[in-house]
Amino acid sequence: MYQPNLFKDQVVLVTGGRSGIGYGIAKQFLELGAKVMICSRKEDLLKTAAEELSAFGECASYPCDIRKPETIQLLAEQINSVFGRLDILVNNAGGQFPSPAEMISEKGWSAVINNNLNGTFYVTLEMFKSFFSQQKSGVIVNITANVYRGFPGMAHTGAARAGVENLTKTLAQEWASFGVRVNAIAPGTIESSGLDTYAPEIQQQFEEGRKANLMGRFGSVEDISNAVMFYAGPMSSYISGTCLYVDGCEHLGNDRMGLLKTMRVAIAKNKK
Ligand SMILES: NC(=O)c1ccc[n+]([C@@H]2O[C@H](COP(=O)([O-])OP(=O)(O)OC[C@H]3O[C@@H](n4cnc5c(N)ncnc54)[C@H](OP(=O)(O)O)[C@@H]3O)[C@@H](O)[C@H]2O)c1
Repeated sequence: MYQPNLFKDQVVLVTGGRSGIGYGIAKQFLELGAKVMICSRKEDLLKTAAEELSAFGECASYPCDIRKPETIQLLAEQINSVFGRLDILVNNAGGQFPSPAEMISEKGWSAVINNNLNGTFYVTLEMFKSFFSQQKSGVIVNITANVYRGFPGMAHTGAARAGVENLTKTLAQEWASFGVRVNAIAPGTIESSGLDTYAPEIQQQFEEGRKANLMGRFGSVEDISNAVMFYAGPMSSYISGTCLYVDGCEHLGNDRMGLLKTMRVAIAKNKK
């Protein structure tokens, strides 16, 4: 789909690259010629993923918790010693749990905000200081979520992701003169390992969700990684501060009253 060697010799950091969407992004960068560093907390799983990914190109890994600035600094040092530079940062690491807002504890709220908002900022800031500001170039792609109409059942991550979307706009303007572009991708529901973490009753709900989507499916990991390649590459060289919804129209709200479906059924009946 993309030109082979599109990212030849470019160095990419994918946070949360050991699984799901992050793994798919790392794999596609490797297939297109990039050198990739992946990071996450679970050392064994991270190492195994990096070994697997090495079948597609030069892949390294370093254990790092994005909530801890001191470990992010070590990550930057590791990137510098292994690859000597960084061209592209994909902030993909994150996680949350479903809960009605009134039942979220202070600890639960802080955990999700720390991971999905603060962690993204800490990694971004460190990579800007260590690489992009000195190189006078860089691309940042933030993976958020479909929070366009709020996020009932996930108030904490809705707030965090909306924060990242706004941060994307701010940094795009503040860092344009450093040659740095910053964009975000908001995935709808994506068929990836992230979905496995939800309880069985929510898994059942996913079945309904697939049917309710106007395109009749959830997104694939490749739907997201293809969008990341676009933002990371020269095809989008004049685009910064934007957020692309990759969600099969989900953010537009779908046909909530079922009007379209009802009309179609009625028209089909009349035709008979
Ligand atoms: N799947 C979806 O439908 C969907 C929709 C919208 C947005 N998203 C977001 O897209 C991203 C990837 O999702 P996914 O489906 O691929 O989920 P996933 O398989 O659970 O991936 C999350 C990754 O982030 C890493 N991670 C989590 N917290 C971290 C931390 N504090 N420090 C470093 N690494 C951390 C995890 O590795 P460790 O456990 O080893 O740290 C894991 O590799 C997530 O941010 C997710 O919330 C997913």
